[in-house]
Amino acid sequence: MKGKIGKSIKKIDVAEKTGGYARYIADMRFESMLHAKTLRSSKPRAKIKGIDIPEIPQGYYIVDRNDVPGKNRVKMIVNDQPFFAEDVVNYIGEPILLVVGPDKEKIIKILSEIKVYYEAVKPVFTIEEAEKLNTTPIYGEDNCFADYEIEKGDPDEAFGRAAKIVENEYRTGYQEHIYLEPQGMIGIYESNRVTVYGSMQCPYFVKNALIQGLGWGGDRIRVVQTTTGGAFGGKEEYPSLIAGHVAFAAVKAGKPVRLIFNRKEDIQATTKRHPSIIRLKTALDDHKKIIATDVDIKMDGGAYSGLSNVVLQRAMFAATGVYNIPNVRVRGRAFATNNVPSGALRGFGGPQAFFAIEMNMHALADHVSEDPLDFKIKHMLKKGDHTVTGGVLRQDVKLDEMTDMVLGMSDYRKKYDEFSKNDDQVLRGIGLSLFYHGCAFTGSGEKDIIKAEVKLKKREDGKVLILIANVDMGQGAQTTLRKIVARTLCIPVDDVIYENPDTDVVPDSGPTVASRTVMIVGFLLDKAAQELKAEWEKAPEVEVHKVYEQPGYIRWDQETFEGDAYPVYSWGTNVVEVEVDPVTCEIKVKGIWGVYDVGTAIDERIIQGQIEGGISQGLGYATIEVMNSKDGKILQDSITDYIIPCSMYFPGIESKLIDSYYEYGPYGAKCAGELPFIGAAPALASAVQNALNVQIKRIPVTPEYLMETAEGEN
Ligand code: MOS
Repeated sequence: MKGKIGKSIKKIDVAEKTGGYARYIADMRFESMLHAKTLRSSKPRAKIKGIDIPEIPQGYYIVDRNDVPGKNRVKMIVNDQPFFAEDVVNYIGEPILLVVGPDKEKIIKILSEIKVYYEAVKPVFTIEEAEKLNTTPIYGEDNCFADYEIEKGDPDEAFGRAAKIVENEYRTGYQEHIYLEPQGMIGIYESNRVTVYGSMQCPYFVKNALIQGLGWGGDRIRVVQTTTGGAFGGKEEYPSLIAGHVAFAAVKAGKPVRLIFNRKEDIQATTKRHPSIIRLKTALDDHKKIIATDVDIKMDGGAYSGLSNVVLQRAMFAATGVYNIPNVRVRGRAFATNNVPSGALRGFGGPQAFFAIEMNMHALADHVSEDPLDFKIKHMLKKGDHTVTGGVLRQDVKLDEMTDMVLGMSDYRKKYDEFSKNDDQVLRGIGLSLFYHGCAFTGSGEKDIIKAEVKLKKREDGKVLILIANVDMGQGAQTTLRKIVARTLCIPVDDVIYENPDTDVVPDSGPTVASRTVMIVGFLLDKAAQELKAEWEKAPEVEVHKVYEQPGYIRWDQETFEGDAYPVYSWGTNVVEVEVDPVTCEIKVKGIWGVYDVGTAIDERIIQGQIEGGISQGLGYATIEVMNSKDGKILQDSITDYIIPCSMYFPGIESKLIDSYYEYGPYGAKCAGELPFIGAAPALASAVQNALNVQIKRIPVTPEYLMETAEGEN
């Protein structure tokens, strides 16, 4: 590089010393590296009147809003979140400044001596309070990050002629990712450039956030993903914030700066799944058929908008589940509150919507005295039907075949009848859910926003490099994508090399989210491999470049939300059997069965992993993963208090994949990451409902909730 100043920073490789191969961010050391710790707001909503900072010893630094050379806003859909608080704070845990220096103990001492003077402003903690607008709005004029409405058919006319109108309201709680590896970043300022290493899903989101925060050209910014120990969406948008922190600190100190969260800090300060309140009003005709539904979705977006509007869109597009309902109105709102910002988590709005819809279908069936499964089946979507947004289901919908399979595997019908009249000491129940997940980005995001680019390069030694910005975060992209390329090129998988992405080397193939890595990026890699195969002999080194082209059948209007909300859907059906202790109301899961249509499975064992992990995480969400925020403070901020399922928790999962093929996915693959998660909670809740003969309207279904519900019904 030209214009190099000073000697270059030496990387000290800890992993090599200890013999490990995978280098996580905490394994990386650089010469003269400093540590950083964040001073966070202790108030949910306040004006900052002043900050007293003690005498700072030599070699230590305070990094705050004044050290952001560019724009003090984290680049996201809406630029409302500051890297460091300015004159106000909006949630407990909001970063105000960093203390940076060589000794961690000293940093903590300095932090304890800093005094922030706040003037409290009346905060907003719940969706209800946000809607009431009983204090100055946090965002906009109405406390809404987004307020959308979609309509299909003529709901007013249908409600007017309804034989019956039924209304139900459902609530879902927080969920925390609990990725094994907490968030962490290292920033380096060298040769007039910044390099950020870290645990992340989306290197180019981070790079673009740094371009905005530093106000520098992209050529001066480099982002390198380090081996990432789990993410589940939690490392989609959040890393952009702390990448800014280490970058600004590194520029100020002129030394590498490392910021790694401990678990408590990670739980308190990072994003979580949006809590929701979903109300469904349904019109039925004389034949017990649904003719219309009016759905009102409200989400707690927390203090900054983040990805809330897209999470909300995904929930809205799922608002009728797998059922064909001719007349629909959906309103969706994501509210601003003084809670920690909500964000991406596996399923991205889908799990909230599907819980409500599936429980509502069950409740409606009870209401008209019909078997819930038969009631669902008679409304099931088929190929050629129209979605809520008026998109056409062009590909096969094999829900009937899949339902038959899962019924056979679980012996559902017999058990359901038996458990329904059950008056044993042990209360048993069985529940079934039907669901889908829209594959890849919503709407025209791939075409209009992402515009994915991939490269494949044949080296002189005959090995092939995959050059993309997507990451393996434990979901198996390293295996799946290398298999696709190797298969197309007819070379051994070991001859395909796919390194952790470095934005100096790889093009922007988009974020590692929404199951787009296999379906969209994998498809481009397959096309690139076909071209490379044709040009293999042309030169010792050959590079092929491919850019995303939207399949011709997709129609979408982002202004009106009309058309194909997704290129294609993956489908699933899930049965869960439970035992509920009549005294303690504890739920024991006795059996889990699932049948899925994910298109072609590139690697069946990876899909198996997604199914087992997804169901377990979904059942955790439905039962034991209790997270409450009191006065803006997360109460369960350790993995002792926030309990996630362990391998002993659930019985073996019996699952099957059905044959299916998607023309625009690599070898026919669709999406598989979120899908198995989505069906778990409604199947579990339906099973509990069957066991106790109560209506479940909230997750997590805790023993306390069951006791209250049982009492209320007696
Ligand atoms: Mo994922 S929730 O699409 O990062």
